[in-house]
Amino acid sequence: MSQPIAEQDFPVLFTAEQIARRTAEIGQQIDADFAGESVVLVGVLKGAAVFLSDLARQISINCTFDFVAVSSYGKHQRSSGAVKLIKDLDQSSEGKNIILVEDILDTGLTVAFLRKLILQHRPRTLKIAALLDKPSRRLENIDADYSGFTIPNHFVIGYGMDYAERFRNLPDIRLMPPDYPE
Ligand code: IMP
Ligand code: MG
Repeated sequence: MSQPIAEQDFPVLFTAEQIARRTAEIGQQIDADFAGESVVLVGVLKGAAVFLSDLARQISINCTFDFVAVSSYGKHQRSSGAVKLIKDLDQSSEGKNIILVEDILDTGLTVAFLRKLILQHRPRTLKIAALLDKPSRRLENIDADYSGFTIPNHFVIGYGMDYAERFRNLPDIRLMPPDYPE
């Protein structure tokens, strides 16, 4: 049987309550920005699935979901730099208000790649929503239109974010020590 995670191993950075409060604010902002229109939330699998599901329920305007998947970090805390599309959008984004939903904007390579891909299909608008933002790691000139929290260069887990596919189910966002064994 697996053990509950030890508090002292993974200190909390943002509690579930803090995340919920910020997510509600972002939802209100989206409602205001797109009043009278509809939006498509495009989640980046798998990390953004948790944020998307909570954010969507804070949005009152007409809203549909789609998902894309790209190659990820794998087991390591560092990206290889290359982004590969594993799953494309199900529906065309032509003429639609697309909000690309990410868990975390880090180097920006993933979102820059997806932005380019989606823009090829001529959406009406394209916005980026990222729960977390690590601007100090940025390699691409890209920013989130809707950003939850800005954080320093720390590796985080929980609320959709993983380390070697684990910890996505933690309700709050926690710090992963750099020397954590694989
Ligand atoms: P980027 O392409 O470097 O911006 O990183 C994009 C992806 O890397 C994110 O969608 C996450 O899946 C992953 N990532 C970046 N930083 C972290 C982290 O601190 N914890 C977990 N995943 C991360
Ligand atoms: Mg991700």
